[in-house]
Amino acid sequence: MVRHFLSLMDLSSAELKRVIDRAGEFKQALAKDERHTSLQQATLALLFDKSSTRTRVSFETAMTQLGGNSIFLATEHSQLGRGEPVADTARVMSRMVDVIVIRTSGHDMIETFAEHSQVPVINGLTNLYHPCQLLADIQTYKECRGDIAGCEIAWVGDGNNMCHSWINAARQFDFRLRIATPDGFGPNPDLVAVCSDHVTMVESPSEAARGAHAVVTDTWASMGQEGEKEKRIKAFSGYMVDKALMSAADKKAIFMHCLPAYRGFEVVAEVIDGPQSVVWQQAENRLHAQKALLEFLLIEF
Ligand code: CP
Ligand code: NVA
Repeated sequence: MVRHFLSLMDLSSAELKRVIDRAGEFKQALAKDERHTSLQQATLALLFDKSSTRTRVSFETAMTQLGGNSIFLATEHSQLGRGEPVADTARVMSRMVDVIVIRTSGHDMIETFAEHSQVPVINGLTNLYHPCQLLADIQTYKECRGDIAGCEIAWVGDGNNMCHSWINAARQFDFRLRIATPDGFGPNPDLVAVCSDHVTMVESPSEAARGAHAVVTDTWASMGQEGEKEKRIKAFSGYMVDKALMSAADKKAIFMHCLPAYRGFEVVAEVIDGPQSVVWQQAENRLHAQKALLEFLLIEF
């Protein structure tokens, strides 16, 4: 059976925890310069139609360090960009490579691709979810503050793909998520309803942050929303994470952001560049967490 990773719900809670524990082992091993070459001869294809720094570099580096190879294909330079059907592309690519990471807009595209793929498909970001980021984020939380189960996390800002993946994470890792978004920019209400045991929509950023163990945000204008920037900057005024908001949180609260960040918009420089920020650790953990994910999907499960 082929397992895909299109959202955090594709793995059980126990499997996700195993992946995160393994990510920690990979991190320690690399620090000691010990190499695991468990993916020798394996090839990863990355099929991206949106920009990326962290996702691309971390997956390609992960494959190199594990002894495998990777091929990066910008959608516009593939036949998919000229109208070859997604299902045909999936049938062809999956007869050649061992695992495929896709970054695209529509979640339905990645679902169609996975349906016709003989090999695991990993969601490298869609408009709906960004599950790989959450593996690194939960690993980071664990390193900084221990087990996230039972903790209180504040999401402040846009109800976007990252917010949706934090909602899934709240359910899978059993923590409480308080979400504050401006009117009209909330997360998918059906998803919130399904996760209502773990997720609460609140009225203001300070209500979300009060006593929280982590404050999390993301850009106000995701990839594809560049044309809405001005409108969004107006709508999101009051949702910037600043020192005052951080001081409403728990004394030891950490600040998290998947990056790229826009200082002076969703977060002030003094917070993202300050002592409570763990954003570089989150970015680094993409490498370790994705090694663990690749190993899980290709060898272990
Ligand atoms: N956080 C993240 O996925 O970054 P990139 O867009 O640079 O891959
Ligand atoms: N919400 C952002 C995340 C970038 C990693 C976007 O989709 O552009």
